[in-house]
Amino acid sequence: MQLRVTLVSALLMTLTGSTGVLAASAEQGKKAFIHNGCWQCHGTMGQGSIMTSSGKRLAPDPLPWETFYGFVRSTNRSMPPYSEKILSDGDLADIYAYLQSIPKPPNSASIPLLNHPVPRRRGYMDALAKRLTPGGVIIQFSYGPHAPVAPQSGYAVTRADLVLANIPPAQVWVYRKA
Ligand code: HEC
Repeated sequence: MQLRVTLVSALLMTLTGSTGVLAASAEQGKKAFIHNGCWQCHGTMGQGSIMTSSGKRLAPDPLPWETFYGFVRSTNRSMPPYSEKILSDGDLADIYAYLQSIPKPPNSASIPLLNHPVPRRRGYMDALAKRLTPGGVIIQFSYGPHAPVAPQSGYAVTRADLVLANIPPAQVWVYRKA
């Protein structure tokens, strides 16, 4: 009987990739992330900051579980290690599930502006352009001779490339703050 239980849990471990990730809850993980102070250095969404997490992001796309687990338990650099006495394996697995559940932000280049009527395209581009940092760019593609949004006051657009290998050939447009 004992052997059977061991075999079953060994199988479960193989299926889930590790022990701790079993039945982890992203919702509980969010609470544990706040409760254990991770958010203070890593931001509530694990987005991190130069000031408090040396620019490291925890999400989206967290480190593989084993690396993540090992780091949190035994780091001896600028982050304090969390032993099992302070933070249980279960809570850490929940935190991991929470970080895994954080969606990727949309890539501004992938917003299909041409699918929208012109006034709405302008609205999107104006909003994006306001958030452009100095030197930042918004990349857009089109299959026609014109940029998806004609330049307005505040930003300029240049044709950066024509990708002939694409079918149909695609124009690459770069918007910058003017
Ligand atoms: C006092 C600030 C602080 C707190 C609190 C904190 N961290 Fe960190 N964490 C850091 C810093 C700074 C780094 C950058 C790596 C280093 O230590 O060299 C880091 C790195 C990490 C990394 C490695 C990321 C990578 O890509 O290498 C993980 C994983 C991590 N933290 C998880 C957590 C979790 C989970 C918690 C809460 C249980 C937490 N941290 C709490 C400051 C903090």
